[in-house]
Amino acid sequence: MAVSFERGRLELPVSIRERIQAAKTASVLTGSGVSAESGVPTFRGADGVWSKYDWRVLATREGFRKDPRLVWEWYQLRQIEIAKAKPNAAHETIADMERHFGSFAVLTQNIDGLHARAGSKRIVELHGNIWRMRCERDGTVITTDEPVKKIPPLCQCGAILRPDVVWFGEQLPETAAKEASEVARTSDVMFVVGTSAVVYPAAALPIIAKNSGGLVVEVNTEPTDISAHADLSVIGRAGEVMPVLWQLIA
Ligand code: OAD
Repeated sequence: MAVSFERGRLELPVSIRERIQAAKTASVLTGSGVSAESGVPTFRGADGVWSKYDWRVLATREGFRKDPRLVWEWYQLRQIEIAKAKPNAAHETIADMERHFGSFAVLTQNIDGLHARAGSKRIVELHGNIWRMRCERDGTVITTDEPVKKIPPLCQCGAILRPDVVWFGEQLPETAAKEASEVARTSDVMFVVGTSAVVYPAAALPIIAKNSGGLVVEVNTEPTDISAHADLSVIGRAGEVMPVLWQLIA
């Protein structure tokens, strides 16, 4: 069922509200749309990152091998952009939600770290984090909170560090993938916020939740592939919908 969010008003069916209120385990799957109102661009669509930049060059292992300097220059720009961004009302509401449920997890495809900055505690980062760098030679992982200064950054062993993010064609980090599937399987309710749900395996998580008997509530500015599976799809901006949705429940 799809409902529009108009003039700050949301008609939440009673049966959905009651199921969310009775839920003991909950999760939120987020994508770049949750950070859009913080000024971090989404990937797809007319203004999306992949309409301006070639993911084959910038977001694959082959691209990095060919030109690490170019890839790092792009990640440095993204780090600068993300450093300026602040968590928005959607991130903040999601952090509040954690206190309400016995078990709660944020499963995010985002690498921007904004959920942590908003105060969420249990965060499963499916695609890595832009504030970490990793050495593929000796396994060193370095966490930073400011954009890289020297490009390309080097490990103490002399090898070039890579951004600790998941690129196209790469597997998700094993622990994160396992934890996310388990969370999805055991969620009484899963909120799916700001993702086009076209990149797998993350896109399968709401289906796992649904097939395991969970309620799926989507929040997006437009219908997605998940909408047909969701018990409720709210069409609207995450930063506006999430606080109102949560007020109707908590
Ligand atoms: P997409 O760009 O594919 O989708 C963003 C979604 O957010 C779309 O469905 C928009 O309709 C929605 N959206 C935009 N603004 C919104 C707002 N203010 N409130 C709510 N929804 C909004 O981004 P992702 O789904 O995150 O992977 O993409 C998944 C993965 O593809 C990313 O993690 C990245 C990308 O390639 C890698 O880099 C591995």
